[in-house]
Parts: sequence; C-alpha cells; structure tokens
Amino acid sequence: MITSAAATTTTVFLLLLLTTTITSTPILGLDSYLSQQSRFDPHATNDTFLSLSSALKKSLSSTLRPPPTTASLLSLQISSPISVKLVGPSSSFPPSSTSLLHSFLSAAVSSDHFHVITTTGNHRLSVAHSPSIDVSLSSSSLSSQLSDIIKSEISTTPSPLRSNLISIPHASIDSIIKHDFEKEKPLHGVYIYLLNLGAQSKPYAYKYTDTGDSSLGFTKCSGSIWTGKERYMWIDLSAGPVDYGPALSGDGVLPRGEFHPLTALHGRPKSQKALLADMASLIWSAYKVLLVPSLRIPVPFENQLIVQFIHIHGPDKDLKGLDFDKIEKNFMDEVKNGGLLFGDQSLSFKKYDVDMAECSICSFAVSLSITSYTSRYLFDNYTLIVSEYLDSKRLHQTLSESNDEIRRLASLPEEDYGRVLPVYIFDLEVNSILLLDRYHQSVAFKDMVIAVRTKNTQTVSDYSCNGRHVFTQTRELERPLVGSILQSMWGVSPTHLVWSAQHNSTLVDYTWSVGHTPFGPFSELSSLSFIQKDAARRNVLLTSLNYTITSAIDVLESIAAHGGERKLLPHNQLSEFIQRWNLFKYKVDKVVSSLSHLDFEMGLYYLRSSDHDLYAIHSLVYHASQDLEASLVCFEDPPFPWPSFLMSVGIFIGLMYTYSQRDKLFSNKRKQF
Ligand SMILES: *[C@@H]1O[C@H](CO)[C@@H](O)[C@H](O)[C@H]1NC(C)=O
Ligand SMILES: *[C@@H]1O[C@H](CO)[C@@H](O)[C@H](O)[C@H]1NC(C)=O
Ligand SMILES: *[C@@H]1O[C@H](CO)[C@@H](O)[C@H](O)[C@H]1NC(C)=O
Ligand SMILES: *[C@@H]1O[C@H](CO)[C@@H](O)[C@H](O)[C@H]1NC(C)=O
Repeated sequence: MITSAAATTTTVFLLLLLTTTITSTPILGLDSYLSQQSRFDPHATNDTFLSLSSALKKSLSSTLRPPPTTASLLSLQISSPISVKLVGPSSSFPPSSTSLLHSFLSAAVSSDHFHVITTTGNHRLSVAHSPSIDVSLSSSSLSSQLSDIIKSEISTTPSPLRSNLISIPHASIDSIIKHDFEKEKPLHGVYIYLLNLGAQSKPYAYKYTDTGDSSLGFTKCSGSIWTGKERYMWIDLSAGPVDYGPALSGDGVLPRGEFHPLTALHGRPKSQKALLADMASLIWSAYKVLLVPSLRIPVPFENQLIVQFIHIHGPDKDLKGLDFDKIEKNFMDEVKNGGLLFGDQSLSFKKYDVDMAECSICSFAVSLSITSYTSRYLFDNYTLIVSEYLDSKRLHQTLSESNDEIRRLASLPEEDYGRVLPVYIFDLEVNSILLLDRYHQSVAFKDMVIAVRTKNTQTVSDYSCNGRHVFTQTRELERPLVGSILQSMWGVSPTHLVWSAQHNSTLVDYTWSVGHTPFGPFSELSSLSFIQKDAARRNVLLTSLNYTITSAIDVLESIAAHGGERKLLPHNQLSEFIQRWNLFKYKVDKVVSSLSHLDFEMGLYYLRSSDHDLYAIHSLVYHASQDLEASLVCFEDPPFPWPSFLMSVGIFIGLMYTYSQRDKLFSNKRKQF
C-alpha cells in the first residue's frame, strides 16, 4: 500500500514537474521578436500577433501548451529583490550573521497580495509579491570609514542644550554609503545597509536639514535612518535611541524602550541571535511599508497629468509658505531625472486665483464645514476648551457640487484630456487656527486636494519627537501639498500607512516617517525618495494589470458558460484562439518579470501589447457565442443562455469603445473606481 501510494505521488510529482517545465519553457525566438518590437513600436500601437511568423504561431498552439486558466491568472507573483548589507566590525557581525539573518528572514517574510487602502469593498489586488533576499557582509573598509566619520562629527559638534542626543548631519555618512552603492552596479533590486559600528563616546542621531537644532517653536526630529534618491536605504542601529509618534495617545508611536527593533542595541545586552531576529523584523517592516507599499487609491494610466492650483484668497495675497514653484520643483526634478513618469507621460502645473469676496460659494463651503470639538485641560481647574476645525468630507462634497461655479470664477479652461487634479487652497483671513479634521493642513481625495491656512502661524501638534512637542507651521503649505498631490495623482501612500488584510483595516506605524519622506509630521523634507518614485509608476502598472486580469477572467467565465472553447469555437478558429491566449499570457508574464526587475517602462509596453490579444480573444468569443446562440434558437432546444449572452455583449461593447479610443486606451481603466 505504502509503496503504491509513494509511487503514485512520485508519478503525480513527475507529471507536475513535466507540466511546469513545459509551460515555462521559453518559446524559441518569441522573446527576441517581442523585444525587437518593443524597440520599433514602444507604445505598442501595432498588434504583434499579425506580424508573428507562422513557426512562432505554431509553437504557441502546440498541444503541450494549454491555454491559461483562471488559477494561473490569479497566481501571478512579483518578486522583489533585496540585498541586505551588514556593515560593522566582526564583533558586531560575525561571519555566521548572514546565514542566520537569512534564515530568520525566510521564516518571517512570506508572499502576500498588493493592497489598496481606499476602495469601496475589495482591498486586495490579484497580483502578489514576495521578497527575494540576499544578505552579505560589506567590506571592513566601509565600516571603518563610516566609524571614523561619526567619531569626528561627534567630537566637533557641541553638545546641544535641550537634548542628550548630538545631532550630526546625515550627509557625511550618506555620501559614503551612496558611493558604495554605486560600486554595486549593475544594480539588482533595492539595497538595505544595516550599520552596527559599535558604541560611540556620546549618544548621537542624524539631522536632515542644515538649519540648526530645535529651538522654541521649531522642532527638528532627528532619526537613525535614511532613504536615498536611488534605490538604497540605510539604518544606523548604533544611533539614538530616538522616539517619535503621537504625543498623548494613538497608534504607531516609536517608543524609546528596547522593544522596538530600531532601538534593539540600546536596551539590555542581547544575544547575537536575538539581535538578528530584531533586524529581521526591521527589514520585514521596511519591505512591507516601503518596498511593496499599499496603493492609496487605484490610479489609471493617462498621457497627460495636470495639477490645477486654485488659490482662494482675500485682498492680502501672501505667497510665503505657498510657493507654487517650490512645490512644482519637487516633482519636476524627478521627471527630469527619468523618475515618477513613464516615457510618454507629461506633467504640468497651472495656477488660478479666486477672490474670496466674489466667491460666495467658497465662504459658504467653509462656514458649512466648520465643526467644533471640546476638550478639557487642567490649568488651575479643569477648563473647557472649544476649538474649531473644518470637516474635510463636507468641504469636499460642497466643492464637488459647486464645481462649475468655482471653475467659472477661476476661469479654469476645459481640460477634456488627461488626468486633471484640482488643488483647492483656502487662504482665510481669520486669526484662529483652523485645520482640516483637527490635524491636517491638507487632505487628499481621489479627485481633488483641499488645503487650508489662516493668519495663525503655528500650533502645537499632537505629536512629539525625542521628548519634545512637534510644532506645526500652519502657514507653510508646500510640504503638505506635495504629500497630498502624491496621494491623489499617483496613489502613493503616506510612509506611515499600510493596509493589513489580517486586521481588515489600515495600520499606522511611524517607524519610517523620519528623514527622507514628504509625508508625516516628523520630517521637514519635501523631496521624493526612491520609495515614492517607484511607487508612483508601480501603482499605475498594478492598477492596469489588475484590470487586465479581471477582464481576462471575465472572458474565461463567459467561455465556460458556453461549455468550453471546443464547443464554442469552430475548428478553424480554435488554433488562433489558443495562440492568442498563450501570447497574452506570455506578455502578462513579461509584465510581472519587468515589475520584478523594476523596469516599469518595459512593463507598460507588454501590458499595452497584451491588450491587443485580449481584445482579439474577446471578439472571437463574442462572434462565436452569437453564432452558437443563433443556432440554439433555431432548434429551440435548450433555454437561451441570456446571462452569458448579455455578458458577452456587454464586454464586447465595452471593448469596442475602448478600442475605438486608441489614444485613451488605458485611461478607460478609470471606470473601475
Ligand atoms: C505599424 O504597422 C504598420 C503596417 O504594418 C507600419 O506601417 C507601421 O510603421 C507600424 N508602426 C510602428 C510604430 O511600428
Ligand atoms: C477656573 O480657573 C479660572 C482661572 O484660571 C477662573 O477664571 C475660573 O473662574 C475657574 N473656574 C471655576 C469653576 O472655578
Ligand atoms: C472588513 O470590514 C468591512 C467593513 O468594516 C466588512 O464589511 C468586511 O466584511 C470585513 N472583511 C473581513 C474579511 O472581515
Ligand atoms: C482586482 O482584481 C480582482 C480580481 O480580478 C477584483 O476582484 C478586484 O476588485 C480588483 N481590484 C481593483 C482595485 O480593481
């Protein structure tokens, strides 16, 4: 019994092995043909199938290559290569560290699906991701070089008055790590440098701007991490301990205690194993939050992206803190360096003014949205404080409803192509503090951004870092606007938000919200790191890929409803059908592998190219189902399959429309949300 069971298992296993090897065998010549086409026709305007040689077509319909199934379309997985580099003397990282850390990581990090934070209903995309991690020790020269620099920075920086942490500039360390990173070329994924350089004479942390230390009314949050403009980040475990997060209560605080892995080195002495386990959890968190971040919203592809700043102000127009060119520069710098956008996309910023006095709907919207909340503070006795804030959802609704009126007042042109993001900025001439939803200067919606400021210049926020309250400079809107535009236009999530399927809710964690990020209250920088730049393009591809998969599954269901392709299609169309399917799946696999290599441009090419095949399959199935239904009606035998017929008609009409609008091929994908 046992032997026969074992034999069966072996046979099944061998069969499985056989099928997987067959389906994954590259088709000789197809790869080079398609990559040649991608150079001749980068926008995939032509259907590659039509110019495919008959030999290639034949191998696409070989009997060993069954057409894809729903299961194979739902099991696409993007692999995300990460190189972890351990930097430190051998007392910090003995040679066994690499294999130990690797084994912790393989145990902790498993594959998961990409998620969307805001959608009505389904948060899960069909595409999964999984890390492929390589751990290595870096050269001892790098570690001694870094160690020397930190020593000299500490000795030359005077001790601050208000803090026990010496703030040293991040740039001196970063330039050396960046140099090491550049030596790694050709690059393979993302590089994470873990620094454990041993204890220094005084505790230190990194400052991220040159404008001095914290002072009364200005809080500088120093930290121990940095994410580069290119695909590397570093974490100095010896720096700190730093803490930042909500001041009174709330989720996501990074505590000073020894429980957070960022402060692993500062608690009681730990065994090497415990330390590496902490590092594994740190890398796992970075992977989840930064390298495969949740999408804030799904974002369709559009050729033209237009940001319209609509500045609603009173008689004293003051642009300090609202320098539109500065906001624009953060994005355009990246566009110039080939980040953020795809090759055939363009981005423009336009400015419009609205006089508050003439815009009665604007004052109405504000007064309608003012809400107040009360809180009790203990001064001499318990005193009731009433504060006012604007309800952003109500403001959003009023603005959406009176869109035409505001457009007329601002003389906004009709932009009937591309994706247009209006950014409403209310510059109110009142003296009190008025934030959106109590905490925010600016709030992102999927169709607009709303920002508010008053004459009030600063307020204490509900956040603290390194033992001090964080102040909000309420008139400075540049950085909040950069963050909101990233969310609305590109679906980039803030660095502290991640969707968790296990919790069925959005989790807040501020670990990565210090240093180089345009989001959150703890950083002052508004330039983009590789995290935001990659997320912007990845989000567009994931949204479109998910749409493609959904439509392909619709076709498969429609075929199944007709009893399978062999029953549905006449014999002479069956081989074209199978060839098209296999070509489609081949291209979708190429999209996934391009995403794994962070080659977004190539991913877009294959995605567009696969649309031709999907369209052709749709029409084959549609015509065949019509013929079949006509013949069924003649015999009046089985009941007419209305649902599947209507579905095919619906799909076909949808596709006809999509196809007729070749220029806006991808933009129609917006319909899904
Ligand atoms: C598309 O195909 C047509 C006809 O086969 C050809 O003339 C044209 O150059 C092709 N376009 C591109 C961008 O390759
Ligand atoms: C609370 O203290 C304030 C001064 O700090 C005083 O004006 C007020 O009358 C006190 N209220 C009560 C109820 O004692
Ligand atoms: C998640 O929460 C939403 C609403 O809060 C609920 O409708 C849904 O059923 C929940 N999903 C799971 C898997 O618990
Ligand atoms: C992604 O695709 C799946 C299945 O194809 C679908 O259920 C889900 O709603 C899609 N998600 C979005 C955000 O379009």
